[in-house]
Amino acid sequence: MDPTKTMNQVEEGLALLAEGGERVERLLADSIDWARLPTNLADAARYGVLGGGKRLRPVLVLTSCGAVSGREKDAEPAAAALELVHCFSLVHDDLPALDNDELRRGRPTLHVHSGEPMAILAGDLMLAMAFGTIAAGPCPPEVRAALVEELATGTSEMVAGQVYDTLGGLPPQISPIEQVKLVHRNKTGALIRAACRMGGLCGGASSDELRALTAYGEAMGLMFQIVDDLLDVTQSAEHVGKATGKDAALGKRTYPAVLGESACHEEVERLRSDAVMAAEQLGDGGYPLACLAEVMAVRTR
Ligand code: IPE
Ligand code: IPE
Ligand code: MG
Ligand code: MG
Ligand code: MG
Repeated sequence: MDPTKTMNQVEEGLALLAEGGERVERLLADSIDWARLPTNLADAARYGVLGGGKRLRPVLVLTSCGAVSGREKDAEPAAAALELVHCFSLVHDDLPALDNDELRRGRPTLHVHSGEPMAILAGDLMLAMAFGTIAAGPCPPEVRAALVEELATGTSEMVAGQVYDTLGGLPPQISPIEQVKLVHRNKTGALIRAACRMGGLCGGASSDELRALTAYGEAMGLMFQIVDDLLDVTQSAEHVGKATGKDAALGKRTYPAVLGESACHEEVERLRSDAVMAAEQLGDGGYPLACLAEVMAVRTR
């Protein structure tokens, strides 16, 4: 690994997130403005959706579309939809009945800001808006149907992962590391894989391209949650903008808890390399995806 090259790729990945993130912010703001909502619900939706977050998933949608020579504009509704589902998952994840967290994206969680009933309902709204956004998008009807199916699968798997994470139900016969992998692939990996595949679908990906995007998304998704587990152990709440040190306190199944920190770093390196190799299968078009994998391997928040 050439450190200078990697450093440049990290810079390029950060620039992609900054530029794509601004576009996504505008798309999301417009979609809330256009929805006819009671003002208190619109306020809660704005609070829960706008003004924060890395916007990794929608940027993956746009970048995956570009990686297969599609027009990123065609992927904008799918990108907004993915981020709406992600925001919904965060709002509900933070609720007292689940993780009971009071800090998200550097500010009070939605239920602290607007009350628990409104946070539940605003989350419900985000989920419905996501599917409405795809339905109203510019892609041909058969592509929109495939996007809906992809997002529904990713969302259902995310919910299953949240159940494994908080309520149990994992197959008892598999090893602890296989259990944690199953949690992570579902709760976090599924939406990240869906982001890459949805971008590919918007860009008219061939089946080989879709296979490469799937492999990329799966490596990236698992890596993302292992890094998130490590940050929970190693970073302060001020730095990451959400509570840390909670996983161990709650006895959560995490990678550091099962493998120890140093094996986690090896696993991150292995998955980073898998993601980059999958991106390389897309030729030059895959380069921005490789840059995003480099950023996510070294992020500290
Ligand atoms: C947080 O996701 C929830 C996990 C799946 C770990 P992000 O770290 O992408 O959250 P934001 O969108 O940047 O706030
Ligand atoms: C949440 O995992 C994943 C989803 C929201 C689906 P965590 O509970 O570990 O995420 P954080 O740490 O609160 O962001
Ligand atoms: Mg959780
Ligand atoms: Mg949580
Ligand atoms: Mg976490």
